[in-house]
Amino acid sequence: MIGRANGAHVSITGLGCHVPERVVTNDDLTQLVDTTDEWIVERTGIRERRIAADDEALTDICLPAARRALEMAGADPASIDLVVVATVTPDMSFPSSSALLADSLGMPDAAAYDLSAGCTGFVYAVAQAHAMLAAGLSRRALVIGGDVLSKILDWSDRSTVVLFGDGAGAVVLEKVPEGGFLGFELGADGGGGANLWLPGSGSRHFDDPDGFVKMNGREVFKFATRVMVSSAEAVLAECGRSIDDVDVYVPHQANVRIIDHAVRKLGVPGEKTIVNVHKYGNTSSGSIPLALADAADDGRLRPGKLVLLTGMGAGLTWGSALIEWTHPMTGALV
Ligand SMILES: CC(C)(COP(=O)(O)OP(=O)(O)OC[C@H]1O[C@@H](n2cnc3c(N)ncnc32)[C@H](O)[C@@H]1OP(=O)(O)O)[C@@H](O)C(=O)NCCC(=O)NCCS
Repeated sequence: MIGRANGAHVSITGLGCHVPERVVTNDDLTQLVDTTDEWIVERTGIRERRIAADDEALTDICLPAARRALEMAGADPASIDLVVVATVTPDMSFPSSSALLADSLGMPDAAAYDLSAGCTGFVYAVAQAHAMLAAGLSRRALVIGGDVLSKILDWSDRSTVVLFGDGAGAVVLEKVPEGGFLGFELGADGGGGANLWLPGSGSRHFDDPDGFVKMNGREVFKFATRVMVSSAEAVLAECGRSIDDVDVYVPHQANVRIIDHAVRKLGVPGEKTIVNVHKYGNTSSGSIPLALADAADDGRLRPGKLVLLTGMGAGLTWGSALIEWTHPMTGALV
């Protein structure tokens, strides 16, 4: 799916993020699996990640993020009429985490549902909320991307445990007089789904599923390096912009080698690229809003700046969004 955002202007008016307190370093992981700090840093760029406490679930880390985004937008929670939570680790299959959050936040008039698109979930959810606002169905939407992948990792599997962390980010979307989202490109290839999956997590029978993420790292790497470039190029072409027009490039934070590859192929200068995978690992649906929070904190998210978001992940899925930023933002991380 690809398209320009015609019609009403819709933008991000509030941003908030949250990560669990507990820091797990690469050295901590060497106590659990056969790995080294050097291997992890060289192959992934990751130095540490945040890991939720035993009694911390997805909505516990989404709640402070959502409150911060609402506060920044100056939005009364009761005025939110749509909540979309992008995640693959909801508190439970149902009720949805979005319904639970709408209740906790005081949003009695909100439609609320969860969306599953792996690490691309946040970009998908923003595209959906944008369409609801542009079509006049929603007046003010809350979009949250978050995951607690630590809950579905096999902590004795060195190939996955070093890569992921927990975190969440939230944005408020509303109509604005000008600027905002310019276009989206979203895609999926279920044929590659088994390269990153959670067998036995739904109605399909698997013999003795262990409930842990399984990944073919090399195949996902190949897929990622391809779509991070093709999706970004597609949305830029669709919107009549070039990579030189981009002021802030926010790639999914999976692995610094994947980001470096995309930066080289796209020809985007490193100083325009947000990289924080070293401190959070891959937080799945939380990754892009957490990177936006870092961009906000160093003053890069200013009105008029062109921001390119590109994600990829389980599904396999990918997606890009192009935004002409409208609201100055700082202090997005709680
Ligand atoms: C996972 C990933 C970092 C592995 O890097 P790689 O360079 O492809 O490494 P390989 O899988 O080829 O493994 C190389 C060796 O390191 C070993 N290895 C794997 N994980 C290791 C770890 N944590 N510590 C030490 N050694 C490890 C392998 O067993 C292999 O050993 P062998 O050569 O004796 O068989 C890389 O494939 C990757 O980033 N893939 C994308 C994953 C991703 O982003 N997933 C989420 C998408 S949203």
